Amino acid sequence: MLDLLIRNARIVGATDRLQDIAVKDGQIVDVAPSISGDTAKEYDADGYLVSTPFIDSHFHMDATLSYGRPRVNESGTLLEGIALWGELKPQLDASDIKQRAHELCRWAIAKGNLAIRSHVDICDPELLAVDALLEVVKEVAPYLDLQLVAFPQDGFLRDPGAREQLIRALDKGVHVVGGIPHFERSMAEGSLSVSELCRLAAERGLQVDMHCDESDDPLSRHVEMLAQETVRFGLQGRVAGSHLTSMHSMDNYYVSKLIPLMQEAQLHVIANPLINITLQGRHDSYPKRRGMTRVKELAAAGLNVAFGHDCVMDPWYSLGSHDMLEVAQMGLHVAQMTGQEEMREMFRAVTSNAAKAVGVEGYGTEVGCNADLIVLQARDEIEALRLRPVRLAVFRRGKLISQTAKQVSTVTLDDGPVEVDFTL
Ligand code: FE2
Repeated sequence: MLDLLIRNARIVGATDRLQDIAVKDGQIVDVAPSISGDTAKEYDADGYLVSTPFIDSHFHMDATLSYGRPRVNESGTLLEGIALWGELKPQLDASDIKQRAHELCRWAIAKGNLAIRSHVDICDPELLAVDALLEVVKEVAPYLDLQLVAFPQDGFLRDPGAREQLIRALDKGVHVVGGIPHFERSMAEGSLSVSELCRLAAERGLQVDMHCDESDDPLSRHVEMLAQETVRFGLQGRVAGSHLTSMHSMDNYYVSKLIPLMQEAQLHVIANPLINITLQGRHDSYPKRRGMTRVKELAAAGLNVAFGHDCVMDPWYSLGSHDMLEVAQMGLHVAQMTGQEEMREMFRAVTSNAAKAVGVEGYGTEVGCNADLIVLQARDEIEALRLRPVRLAVFRRGKLISQTAKQVSTVTLDDGPVEVDFTL
């Protein structure tokens, strides 16, 4: 007796045919053109795209949905955002942080995002957000994998309390070591912070994910240092460089040396298209740099490139609904990833590549994988990127946890009503 049978699925990566997916005990137990047998529940995907869930590989859960508090970011700049966060932090309490995080998780689930890596600011001696979000991790675990990164927003070396608080956050159970080398006092202190944080991760057997070179400075060199220290401490494949926006502005000759170094370190690259292109290039007149890292070149070199949402309605970004297809679509445009295989790579940047970057286990559509699946009102990945369609169904371990009605418009002209769904 099966728990669930999904019929007529166009499975991501094999959308040229219809298949059934059988689920038992929260796992995929069979994938075939036609599966027979008793099942407790049946879902007809009706030829729509069935995918593994979206993964947000870079987010800030402690700040999300705080838009307008205590005031809005009038200029929309990074600096006003940081000042605003400084004003807001003393006003936060645990129940407020948890309430906003739970609301965001509901948005995420409705959009089919079932794993989020969130940085949490540890530059608060009380570690209020750390404690609150560690509780949220447990509370949402049946539905969504929430992973936390200990993020020293005010600098690991620059903020006198950051080292002790970061270690305390890890002791409490925060999963990943974060950093922000470009925000330290000097290039030398930035390098030192990379080295010390990588050592800490190696000693504790943890992953690393640093905000790295989130600037327009063509001479910023922390990505290089991150790659070097990853190799030195044997952390290959366990380190992510988030943002890497300085790579947009670097000299091409230098990048031709840097990318092989990143390959050697097996760095995961996490770009945040919506945020990078709105916050970077603010000192430019024209031509105006867009600031997103070199997605096309990094992907072509075989590096694992993922995208994060970074912000939704917080001091840095007033917009967003936690739609990872919006992120992928923006990334596709900015990186000019318009080739057929390049567009599929952009879909992977918010699904399988992101899962690899943050280490989601049991992720896939093959037999033996967790039955975490979403149904999109599209026929393939490229149509999904074009339409950013509704998530008709979201399954977690084979259980239906979110549904959205199919969207069809009825256009009534002189010749009567005609249904439009934007497909050919
Ligand atoms: Fe970030």
